[in-house]
Formats: sequence, structure tokens, C-alpha cells
Amino acid sequence: MDKFQSVRGFHDLMGDELRRFRYVSELIREKLLLYNFEEIVLPVVEYLEVFQRSIGETTDIVQKEMFAFQDRKGRWLALRPEGTAGAVRAYIQHSLYALKPYMKLFYEGPMFRYERPQAGRYRQFHQIGAEVFGSKDPLTDAELISLVYEILSELGIPVVIEINSIGCKICRPAYRSVLLEYLSHVERNLCEVCIDRKDRNPLRVLDCKVPACKEAVKEAPKMVDYLCEECREHYTRLKEYLSALSIPYRENPYLVRGLDYYTKTVFEAVSEELGITVIAGGRYDYLVEELGGPPTPAVGFAVGLERLSMLVKEVPAQEPLYFVIPFGPVEDFALWVAKRLRAEGKRVELSYRKGSLKKQLELANRLGVRYAVIVGEEEKAGSFYTLKDMETGEQVRVEITF
Ligand code: HAM
Repeated sequence: MDKFQSVRGFHDLMGDELRRFRYVSELIREKLLLYNFEEIVLPVVEYLEVFQRSIGETTDIVQKEMFAFQDRKGRWLALRPEGTAGAVRAYIQHSLYALKPYMKLFYEGPMFRYERPQAGRYRQFHQIGAEVFGSKDPLTDAELISLVYEILSELGIPVVIEINSIGCKICRPAYRSVLLEYLSHVERNLCEVCIDRKDRNPLRVLDCKVPACKEAVKEAPKMVDYLCEECREHYTRLKEYLSALSIPYRENPYLVRGLDYYTKTVFEAVSEELGITVIAGGRYDYLVEELGGPPTPAVGFAVGLERLSMLVKEVPAQEPLYFVIPFGPVEDFALWVAKRLRAEGKRVELSYRKGSLKKQLELANRLGVRYAVIVGEEEKAGSFYTLKDMETGEQVRVEITF
């Protein structure tokens, strides 16, 4: 290796990309606080079993995409591929259910999946996730989808919000059998992966991106036609609330998601421009109990921050930059002026280079400076500085008041 490179799928976030990333994450954090979500900082590593038990043994994430490893004592750990499992583990571990009738948590940080890297798909990526524990009311699902819609509208990102209901323990088994029956008739047209997974996880076949599979499932039975009374009522009310809030959505009866914990509502915000999902979530009413907590319905979503920032066209301009140029042996005064301007809330850089005023102003241009603040011996003696607007060339004397 001539020079070290970052590991494939692990990228440095910087410059414009990072500015967009921060703008997006700050906007979302502010929104979440307005909705009274409380932040939780979760560890990056959990016991492997936490993910196996929640995301599901037969999912791609658990089977193929985990960064799993043994620690020095031989315990199996994994870098988190997502945040819901850890949030649920924390919710149970700290008995958060005993604190409030419902709990709204959000988290932000890196996630890790061993996927094939491509545009918008990394092995280390970042999510902000929000989870509501303790409410089974579709009002909660509607409010979360509304929050997702608000985020996307404020960022000016055109997306389609797709929704579906994938039922519950009562209605899904019957649907599963009908679907399996259907798949057995079209099996010869399915891709190898789908043939392999159809018996273990038939719903995933509906989500396969291979054109032949898409074609084969076109006439497949739909979960929404097999929902039990409770799930149907839940789904109907969700749609009513979304319409009442004028949130445009599209029903996608084949939306199933790649994680096994979901029940009832699932949703995704898809950018039609890039054909990628930027925000995704759903309800998971059994997961808390399955991981050892009391029966607690829950619903949440996660934002893919890299993907969302990719779609942001413009971020608000930065504050204008002031550049303090010491001209002559007046560094102490220049340091003091820079400090003072910063105390006024200005973005200030102090020149670390020596040289003629011409050279310094050239440097200012290269740094994208808006205002050069020239301080020489005369300025120091008279307690003022010379402010030069680099765009108009205009120059004024600014008295320093004490
Ligand atoms: P997910 O659909 O696996 O759901 O991921 C959520 C979002 O993370 C995706 O829509 C996408 O924007 C982003 N994402 C996923 N994988 C990658 C990747 N390799 N590179 C870049 N971005 C990626 C979850 O993770 C669930 N925990 C969401 C949830 C929360 N459901 C309920 N609560």
C-alpha cells in the first residue's frame, strides 16, 4: 500500500458535503425537540443477539451485512446496523416504561452495514432515528409521518411517502399461507435469492428489486386484503389522519421493509429523482416484549443523513468572514481586535502570514473573505481599524468604542 486510504465504504465527511449534512441534521434535531422527543446517545456496539433477535435471523442485514466480532473473552458483539434494537434494549434495561406512560426518544450517530458501496450507500452511514414507546393509537403513526413530511418540505426535497400495513400476529399467518401458495405457482420466474428465501421469509419476495421477481409478484395477494378487524381499523384511521393533515401519500401494497420487527404500519419516503429511500420506519408492537420488556407498542423511523443531504440543493449562506490583517509590529492589537469582533458574534480569521498589504489582500480573496480588517501602527495608536469591503472595494475607518 503506497498511501493509506480509508476502508472501502467508510468515508470522510467534509467541506460542502459536511455543511449540507450538518444543516440537515440540525434542522431535524430542532424539529424533534419541538415534538418533545428526548435524546438518547446509544452505544455503537451491542451484543450480536440484540440485533439477531430484533431485526430477524432471516433478514439480509443479519445474515450478510453485520460487522460482528468476538471480543477478547469470546463474546459475540456487533457494530450496530441500525438504532431501533439498541433503543429498545435501553428502554427495557433502564425500565423507562416505568417513568412515563409513553416515551419519545431520538438518537443520532453512525450505523454499519456490510453492503456493496455505491452512490448513497455506505458501510458506515449516519442516521437520526425517532422512536415512540407506549402508544398503539394510529394518531402516533400519523404524527410521525407528518413529522417526516415536514422535514422533507422544509428541506425542499420532493419525495413520495409510501405507506402500507403488514398486519399483526393474528392476520399475518393466514396471509403468509396465501402468499406462499401464490409464490409456488410463479417460483420458476423468481431469482435464486427469492427461491431460497421464500419459505423462510415470503414477504421479502414482494420487495425484491430484480425485474423478473417484480413481474412475477405483480398479481400477488395483498396483505391489506387480509388484515384483521383491528389492523384494518388502524390502517383506515391512519389514512384519515394523513388526509386531514393534507399529507400526500401513496399506498404501496407490496411495501414490506427489510427488518422483521414490523407490525401494522410501514412507511418510506422515496426520492423519485434518485430512486432511493431517504427516510423509513414503521410500527413494531411486539419487539419490546420479545426482548424481555413488558408488552409495549412502539413506532418510529430513521433518516439516512447522507442520502438526505445529497438531495439538499442549497444550504443557507455562512456568516460573512472578517479577516484581521496585522500590518507592522501590531500583532497584540490584531489579536485583541479579532477577539473583540468575535465577541460581537462575527466570524473572524486572523492572518498568520506576513507580507505586503497587496499579498495579504490577495490571500483574503483566496480565503473567500468578505471584510478585510486592516490594523497598523496608526490604527493601534488611534484605537480604530480600517474595514475594507472586498466585494465593493470600499474602505472605511471604524472607531473602537470602549
Ligand atoms: P432502514 O430502512 O434499514 O430502517 O434504514 C433507514 C434509512 O437509513 C434508509 O431509508 C436509508 O436512508 C438509510 N440507510 C440504510 N442503509 C444505508 C446505507 N448502507 N448507506 C446509507 N444510508 C443507508 C431502519 O434502520 C429502522 N431502524 C428504521 C426504524 C426506526 N423503524 C422504526 N424505527
